[in-house]
Amino acid sequence: MTQIEKARLLKILYQYRAMGFEYFKEYKPVGSKDTSSMLPKEIGQLKESVMSCHLCNLSKTRKNVVFGEGDENAKLMFIGEAPGASEDEDGKVFVGRSGTVLTNIIENVLRLKREDVYIANIVKCRPPGNRVPTMEEVSACKPYLMQQVEKVNPSIIVALGSTSFHHLTGEYETEISKIRGEVLELGNAKLIPTYHPNFLLRNPSSKKEVFQDMLKVKSLL
Ligand code: URA
Ligand code: SF4
Repeated sequence: MTQIEKARLLKILYQYRAMGFEYFKEYKPVGSKDTSSMLPKEIGQLKESVMSCHLCNLSKTRKNVVFGEGDENAKLMFIGEAPGASEDEDGKVFVGRSGTVLTNIIENVLRLKREDVYIANIVKCRPPGNRVPTMEEVSACKPYLMQQVEKVNPSIIVALGSTSFHHLTGEYETEISKIRGEVLELGNAKLIPTYHPNFLLRNPSSKKEVFQDMLKVKSLL
């Protein structure tokens, strides 16, 4: 999208907001079947355009956009919720305390290198105070993530936590504790939900469930 098209779109969105709309379940521009078809296909180009994104309110409070990183041909992709304070500071995904937990899972349980998987989040800018991103923010940001998923084309996606699971599947009513460890489908990939590393920091006894879920991931790789 050109800068002028973006500015026009933003104006229309502000007009909708003034009329009382809080979010669009899914934004589809008139005359286009699929929003992602308007996004750059190459990950490098996609990253470049996302780095200056102002499509949602989170752009006003973020320090850095956290695009995600890893092997663009990875078989395994992890999708978290949103950048936290450390990620916002560094512009890198999962670098704080929960990042250490995730890195341990990748290296010590899956016996892979962190740079051999791909890691991203449902939204790319930090929600203030680490609140859960709103539906409006997710709707604005998710097309970027789906473009990354399409390009990386992993065979397995691990949804880290309920926000990731809910927005990847649209199953907002299902609790993560009820669905974790199940092997679901998402496009070409198998989707396995598990607990978020932050949850493990607060509930270390749940590590055993995540360990089991990762053994399942390993058996499918
Ligand atoms: N939590 C997430 O979900 N993602 C990050 O990048 C960091 C913390
Ligand atoms: Fe853009 Fe996503 Fe950041 Fe919102 S969260 S400003 S949609 S990159």
